[in-house]
This record gives sequence, C-alpha cells and structure tokens, in this order.
Amino acid sequence: MPRVVIVGDCKGGIRVIRRLVVIGQGYVGLPLALRAVDVGFSVVGLDLDEERVKRLSAGDSYVEDIPGERLVAALESGRYLPSSDYADAAGFDVCAITVPTPLWDGVPDLRYVRDAARELARHLRPGCTVILESTTYPGTTEEIVLPLLEEGSGLRAPGDFHLGYSPERIDPGNPRWRLENTPKVVAGLDEASLAAVRGFYAELVERPVPVPSLRVAELTKLIENTFRHVNIALINEIATFADRLGIDVWAAVDAAASKPFGFMPFYPGPGVGGHCLPIDPCYLSWQVKRTLGCEFRFVELANGVNREMPHHVVRRIVNGLGDRSRPVRGCRALVLGLAYKKNTGDLRESPALVVAKTLAELGADVRAVDPFVEPRRVPPEITLARLDEEELRAADVVAVLTDHDVFDYALVERYGRYVFDARNRCRSAAVELL
Ligand SMILES: NC(=O)c1ccc[n+]([C@@H]2O[C@H](COP(=O)([O-])OP(=O)(O)OC[C@H]3O[C@@H](n4cnc5c(N)ncnc54)[C@H](O)[C@@H]3O)[C@@H](O)[C@H]2O)c1
Repeated sequence: MPRVVIVGDCKGGIRVIRRLVVIGQGYVGLPLALRAVDVGFSVVGLDLDEERVKRLSAGDSYVEDIPGERLVAALESGRYLPSSDYADAAGFDVCAITVPTPLWDGVPDLRYVRDAARELARHLRPGCTVILESTTYPGTTEEIVLPLLEEGSGLRAPGDFHLGYSPERIDPGNPRWRLENTPKVVAGLDEASLAAVRGFYAELVERPVPVPSLRVAELTKLIENTFRHVNIALINEIATFADRLGIDVWAAVDAAASKPFGFMPFYPGPGVGGHCLPIDPCYLSWQVKRTLGCEFRFVELANGVNREMPHHVVRRIVNGLGDRSRPVRGCRALVLGLAYKKNTGDLRESPALVVAKTLAELGADVRAVDPFVEPRRVPPEITLARLDEEELRAADVVAVLTDHDVFDYALVERYGRYVFDARNRCRSAAVELL
C-alpha cells in the first residue's frame, strides 16, 4: 500500500487516511479508485493485467471517461498505486472487487471473482470491509465470496469483518450521470456490514441507497439490465417489421415519448453489446433454471431478438445493394463505428462487429471507421479507414452502426451513394433507416 497513513489536519489534529484496495482496474474499478483518491483515500488499484498496470503507472488511461491528466494527478498525489501484486493489498481497510463476470457457454464464469476473493483473503484483518461490485446472480456474495474469505483468513463474518455488495451503475461515455451523482445501491451481510458499506460509499457518491439484503442488491442490478434488454428487444422487433409496413419506427417512438407518464423511449439498433445487456440477464435466467428448473422467458425472447438484429441489418443492406444492382460479393462497404456503444472503443459483444464480419464473409470488401477502437483489436478481414470524401465516394454502401458524435454525418450524406443508418443520425430523406 502507499505508505502515508496518518497526516496532520489543518486544525493541528490527526486525520487517518483510510486504505482502499480496488481489485480490477477496468471500466468500473478505475473510476472508483480515482474517485476514492479524490476524496482522500490511499488507494491500491490491483490488476493482474501487467500491461494495464504499466500503462496506469505511466499515466496512460485506457478508459475513455478517465482523462490521462486525472490519472497523473492521482499518481502525483502519492495516494494511488497501480499494482499487479496482491502483497500491496496488505493492511487495507476497505476492498472493492470489480473483476469481470463473463458467461462461458451460457454458464456464469465466476473464476475471476473466486480468484480475487482467494488472493484477498490472505490480507484480511479484523474490522476490514470487503465489497463485491461485479454484476452477478443473487447469492454470489454470501455463497461464494464469504466462504473463500473465511477459509483463507481464518476470520468469520459477521463479526470479524464486514461484507457487502454494491452494484456498479457506471455508464461509460455519459457526461450527465457519473459515479458521484448516480445513486448507489448498498447492502451488507448484517447491520454492521451495511453501516460500514454505506459509510464508505457516502464519501464517494451523493446518495447511497441501502437495501435489506445482499440478494436484493444483487437482483437489483439484474432487474435494471434485464429491463433495458427486454425493452430494446421489444422495439427492435417492431423495427424488423415497421419498415415493411411502410412506417418510420423512430418517429413513432419519439411521438410515444411525448406521453409524460407510463412510457420511456427505447430506440432500435443493430443489436446489443457490452456486458450489461447480452450477458448479465443470462446470469438470472441461468440461476432460475438451475434453482427452480424453469425458464425466464422474457430474457430468452429478448436474447433471440437482439442476437438476430445484426443479421437483420445485414439482410437489409444486402437487399439495398440488390435494389441498386450491386451484389454484396465484391462490393465495397464502409462501416461507421465498430464499438457497441457510442463515443467508446468497447468492442465486447459488439453487434457492429458482427455486421462487419458477416459482410466480409459474404464477400464484401469491408472498411471501417472507428477512432476509439484500438487497431490491434480489429479483426484482420476489416480494414481501418478514415472518414473522408474519397472513402465515402468509393463505397457501395455506407452503414452507420455506432453513432459516435465525432462523425461528420453531413459529409456522409453528401458523398455516400447508398447510406444505411441503423442509428437515425442522418437527416436526409435519401438515407435508408433501420
Ligand atoms: N463496464 C460497465 O459499464 C459496467 C457497468 C456496471 C457493471 N459492470 C460490471 O463490473 C464488473 C467489471 O466490469 P468492467 O467493465 O470493469 O471489466 P473490465 O474487463 O474493464 O475490467 C476488469 C479488470 O479486472 C482484471 N482482473 C481480472 N481478474 C482479476 C484478479 N483476480 N485480480 C485482479 N484483477 C483482475 C482484468 O485484468 C481487468 O483489467 C463486471 O462484473 C461487469 O459486469 C460493468
């Protein structure tokens, strides 16, 4: 841990600097670590990815919402230490676990959570607080994390240490809702744990929202993500037939959104990506199936609809090319955006990538523009390109798949011969909308 522990305060007293460990320095862990530095914690950002730790130590941020200057300031404060060595966790007061929780063949893969809990257990001491933030199915904190912490430390909870769960609601690229002003659900194993967890987040965020149990907090996150997943699937399915009915689905959703109660707009798109929508709801459906033997039908249906969307987009493009007497094989397709989310470079489960790869499989020469995506992560069958007049003129189809704000949509409309817009960013009537 960074060594500063006790400092004088301005009144001549002493102020104890609490020591926080954040396990996982990704989209969730890095903003949390830096926010804690801002409010005065001494923070170790643990990550087993040595390349990431190297970049963090050099002040080089890989998370879009964290500018390099903010990272440098944290490093210069002497209260932020990126590390891949769990020995640096020794002596921590609070630890937040923010490691990935992927699916493996449709089954929750908790190996990262298990590994983190096992490693951390060796550094547990009486009175410390451990909080799981990773998204997971209800019961994980109590059934998986707790026994590993107890086994590895010889301590018991409740009693010797505090244990909590607090789902992350971070929305990368959202300038309005940030970590500090988004209410944060908090839960504890017992009353004392809840008080410790709530007290910790009260220093970081404007409004902690205490809930009655760990399982309620775990389910809360899955309800939020499933709600979004299902509603996007609903509007996606409507989009797949609205154009055949000759109706502009975007205009209809906007009109429905004028209703001031009982409606929340969701818009169609080429499918869902990232972690929250394609994966998290499956944690719940897997648990329901395993525990109760029944299907969580809404999730299954939403998965089916949303997974089909990139293929629907491909079919629309192939048909659009056909209408222009241009077969997809041998055509040139310019794809705008590969990331699953606008203004980010996150390629995880990205439907735009599925569209681009499928067009390439069908024989198109696929070029893509995405200034946020790391070039080494782009599959070899896709050529990265710049968004300029020459590229636009040379393309048989220009497909807007991720609506990054930096794209010049007026340029796209001016020079694109056939523009297919899956995000409703172009304004010209000549553009074909999803
Ligand atoms: N990204 C989001 O927008 C978001 C939002 C809410 C919740 N979540 C959830 O938060 C969790 C983390 O997501 P993320 O997007 O930050 O993931 P990420 O992949 O960006 O980062 C996770 C980091 O954890 C590291 N790691 C893995 N195992 C480790 C271990 N045993 N010890 C130390 N480091 C380890 C990885 O190297 C990686 O850098 C997931 O459960 C996710 O579902 C993510």
